Amino acid sequence: MSCACPYAIIRVSKSIFHRKTGLPSEGGESTVCAWTERKIFIRRIKIGIIGAGVISGIYLKNCTGMFDHIVEVKAIADLVPELARKRAEEFNVPHAYTVDELLADPEIEIVLNLTAPAAHAPLNLKALHAGKHVYTEKPFALTREDADEVLALAEQKGLLVGCAPDTFLGAGIQTCIKLIDDGWIGKPYAANGTIIMGNASGGMHPNFRNFLKLGGDPLMDMGPYYLTALIALLGPVRRVTGSAQQLNKELTILNPKSPAFGQTVPVEAPTNVTAVLDFANGAVASLQAAKESFGYAPRLEIFGTEGNLTVPDPNFFGGSIFIKFANGEAKEMPHSHPFAEEGRGMGVADMAYAILSGRANRASGRLARHVLDISLGIFEASAADRHIYLESAVERPQPLPLGLKYNRLDA
Ligand SMILES: NC(=O)c1ccc[n+]([C@@H]2O[C@H](COP(=O)([O-])OP(=O)(O)OC[C@H]3O[C@@H](n4cnc5c(N)ncnc54)[C@H](O)[C@@H]3O)[C@@H](O)[C@H]2O)c1
Repeated sequence: MSCACPYAIIRVSKSIFHRKTGLPSEGGESTVCAWTERKIFIRRIKIGIIGAGVISGIYLKNCTGMFDHIVEVKAIADLVPELARKRAEEFNVPHAYTVDELLADPEIEIVLNLTAPAAHAPLNLKALHAGKHVYTEKPFALTREDADEVLALAEQKGLLVGCAPDTFLGAGIQTCIKLIDDGWIGKPYAANGTIIMGNASGGMHPNFRNFLKLGGDPLMDMGPYYLTALIALLGPVRRVTGSAQQLNKELTILNPKSPAFGQTVPVEAPTNVTAVLDFANGAVASLQAAKESFGYAPRLEIFGTEGNLTVPDPNFFGGSIFIKFANGEAKEMPHSHPFAEEGRGMGVADMAYAILSGRANRASGRLARHVLDISLGIFEASAADRHIYLESAVERPQPLPLGLKYNRLDA
């Protein structure tokens, strides 16, 4: 809600005026700054967060900080009211509501769903029925049917749907998109993504059991970062095959610091997956996602006819980028885009810009639906010993423009 010019917009009572143009006041969506000729939004979109767990901290930090020119967190709710109250206090959020109170608040336009995977689709449907746009954490849904119901209801009601991850909007992947599109590695023909992580035997996450169920498994939990990045870099996937394995049927919590120390809990989803993805543009990728070992080993590379591109960890926003050229020389490439810092919440902010300007939101439900289709297709291919041809199709999300000012998502 600000502009770096001598005519910075002012707020009088409830109305907002631009000092130079004097327009528009209450009711309009944006005005153009007479000094910088930039579009300025004259109202912020109010957000209600459902889910006050671990990841809510960084969303709250960024939505009440980096992106507070475009969004305003009005309320937070959780099944556990104490968690919502604590987060509200920590980040000066005006209301700690019940879920129903939050959905009934007419000022809230976007519901930000940060609950556990199994609750995503049911809550998203509820929010859409209440007339809210929704932005949800990944995975988008656990079944294609649930995902389609959410998308169909949103379309029917003229509401937007968004889904994490939004890390592909960061400096790392956006720079890699530009490098590929500008021809730095020639024609991209292959890619290799690997995410190897430890299992949940540390038991320190308050709801670690969710990581042992479908939705918290490596492919549905970590896969979306890689798959979304690959789609943003190479376009949609046409067919998949793969092998989904599970080393153990149960897990014992071995960490004496965990409240669940010594407990043995069931493992209910594949924990070791390797897949092959054929992209519509002809490129082929291998993707490995496992939570069976120790440490954290992320890797993403795109191989082109004129160079090999090392893409930074798509779980984060920044990171180093290298191209190895035909002469064997490896060059570190500078970021062409901003947002190298931890920017979770960028997808919601982008959705707020989309609501105000009428453009499409980048971290969209359709993109997440394609990611889900790929993941479920890999499981199905493994079970059926064959390739699965995907029915969903999606366009590459629009890259961010160059020359963005700090924390702005539109030029
Ligand atoms: N923890 C991380 O590092 C991380 C990172 C990125 C994304 N995510 C994603 O964010 C989501 C949440 O993860 P988390 O780690 O914060 O989990 P969490 O278990 O810490 O928090 C989830 C919260 O949602 C609440 N909740 C569950 N169902 C609800 C319902 N029906 N109504 C209201 N509240 C409900 C729970 O009480 C809990 O407080 C997951 O989808 C996860 O994949 C997590």
